[in-house]
Order: sequence, then C-alpha cells, then structure tokens
Amino acid sequence: MSNAADLTVSDLVVEYKTDGYAIRPLDGLSFEAKTGELVVLLGPSGSGKTTLLSCLGGILTPTAGTIQLGDTTVSGLDRAGMDSYRRELVGFVFQAFNLIASLSARENVAVPLLVTGTKRSTALARADVLLDMVGLGERGHHRPSQLSGGQQQRVAVARGLAQDPTLLLADEPTANLDHVQAEAVIGLLRNLRNDGRTIVVSTHDARLVPVADRVIDMGSETLDVEGPPVDVRYSRGEVLFEQGDAAGLVYVVVSGTAEVFRRLTDGGEESLATRSTGEYFGELGSMLGFPRSASVRATSDLVVTAYSPDEFRRQVLGES
Ligand SMILES: Nc1ncnc2c1ncn2[C@@H]1O[C@H](COP(=O)(O)OP(=O)(O)O)[C@@H](O)[C@H]1O
Ligand SMILES: [Mg+2]
Repeated sequence: MSNAADLTVSDLVVEYKTDGYAIRPLDGLSFEAKTGELVVLLGPSGSGKTTLLSCLGGILTPTAGTIQLGDTTVSGLDRAGMDSYRRELVGFVFQAFNLIASLSARENVAVPLLVTGTKRSTALARADVLLDMVGLGERGHHRPSQLSGGQQQRVAVARGLAQDPTLLLADEPTANLDHVQAEAVIGLLRNLRNDGRTIVVSTHDARLVPVADRVIDMGSETLDVEGPPVDVRYSRGEVLFEQGDAAGLVYVVVSGTAEVFRRLTDGGEESLATRSTGEYFGELGSMLGFPRSASVRATSDLVVTAYSPDEFRRQVLGES
C-alpha cells in the first residue's frame, strides 16, 4: 500500500529534438521518495533539473519511463487526466517568482484558487492563512515591488501551496536570493515537508544538501556538448549558469539581454557586463575546460544559441 505522496521515477528518458538533432538531458533516471520527504535535485545548469520538474509536474511528457505519485501513474494519463493532475495534485514555485506585479500578495496567492472557480472571499481567506504560514501575515496587502526578493519568493511558496498540493515542486527557488533570504526560503520548505506532502527542490547549490531527506545527484556531464547548436529560451530573471559550474556550452545572444555577474562572499553581487544580440559569453571556461568564472542571468526574455566549443570555434569564430 503506497502513501498518497510516494514518488517513484523509473528509467525516465527525455529527448529534445531540434532539426533532427537529439539531446538527452535525462537518460534512464530512476529514484524513489517517500511521502513527507524534502528531495533535492542537485546539479549544475544543463543537467536536466527543470526538465525533470516539468515531467513531475505534468507539463512535459517524457520520451520513455514512468512516474508514479501515490496511486497515480502520471506518465499514463491522457490530456484531461494530466490537466486535473496538474491542477489538483501539484504546486509550483519558480526561480523568478512569477508574481503578478499589479496584484497584492494575498491576491497573488489566491490566483490558483480563483482560476479554478473558488469564491473570491474563500480564496482570499485561504491566502491569508497561507501567508501567515510563510511568515508574511502582515504583508498581504503589499504589492510584489514593495517586498524583498526573499519575501516575494515566500509569497510564491504560499501560492504554490494554494491547492494544498500532494507534490510541491520548486525550481531553483533560491537562485535569485542572497544567502540570508535563501536560508529563510529553505527553512520554510523544510518546515512544510512534514505536512504529508512531498517536496522536490532543484538547485545547483550544495548548501541545500544538509536540509534534504534525499539528494538526487543530477551529475555534471549529462550534457552532450558534441552536437550542433540549439536555441534555448529563458525568462527574465532566470540564471543560465552559475560561477563554479562545470562549463560546457558557449552562448550567442539571438534576442534579449543577459547580465554577466559575480557572486560576492558577503551575499551581494557585482555586475561585470551585459550581452545583447550577436554577442557571446561563456566561451573561456568552455574552450579552456575551466569552471565558470561568473554567473549569467537573463535581464529580459532571452533567446540564445548554445554551441559546443567546437561548433562555436567553427561557426562563430570562423576557425577551421
Ligand atoms: N525545450 C527544449 N528544447 C531543446 N533543448 C532543451 C529544451 N529544454 C531544455 N533543453 C536542453 O536540455 C538540457 C537540460 O536543460 P534543463 O532541464 O533546463 O537543465 P537545468 O534546469 O538543470 O539547467 C540543456 O542542455 C538544455 O539546453
Ligand atoms: Mg533549470
């Protein structure tokens, strides 16, 4: 007899095809988690964390393999089944918070309930309870811009809990926070795990390991850097790679802007450069085999072409 939030992932494969060229960020991944656990997916950029969370959340259908949550075989659901799975069993917390700027904190938290037809007064009352739970009971009427990054992320956690999900998924929820704010968010997730739900958090930051009940090592070299270039999209605020990550790809900006920055030991950061259309970044570590010397985030919606070092030399630098 399985508990409602037991999670079993078996032989999961995801293959993306671009112009006949295939990349497999997940290639036969298996793991189990028990109800109530905080599971950390640990791996550098490009190791397939977002891909796995998308599969767990019913946003992406895997190429092969199965996902089981309690009695539900997620990978076997039809479209309608998938819709209700996503709506009823899963909550999401994103790296870039994704709060609606014109709404107050409590309205933001209430949104998932309002869109599924809950009465406004009921939805807002539930939002108040959830904001209390994340320590923001006094801030319900603040707009996102009036809250710190850490507070915004806690609002996003409260929103992720709106439907009382069996599975709470958080994709690098601390990536945009300084270490004080990150600690508060991690501590919060840790407290929420005893709730009869399973929480899966992705991160490239090994500091989360001590709070995890289970760590899934996504590895560093699942990325095929031999293939032809591929276009990748990022939303504003998303981090492409972190200083210290194993380097693999070189990026050329197709549209939008990216900021190259360094994380400082005091938790602050130093902006080093901006890259826009036609400019590239990430070439040094990739070509020399060094870890990333700086981090890069999207400062607008961003499309980049990711090249293997060989293809970058050939196609962008024109070397033979
Ligand atoms: N929609 C997509 N089409 C093609 N390739 C993709 C797509 N999404 C992700 N990828 C590639 O799959 C790999 C894993 O990506 P992702 O799951 O975002 O990793 P992470 O979240 O660990 O950084 C990367 O090489 C990325 O470029
Ligand atoms: Mg990701």
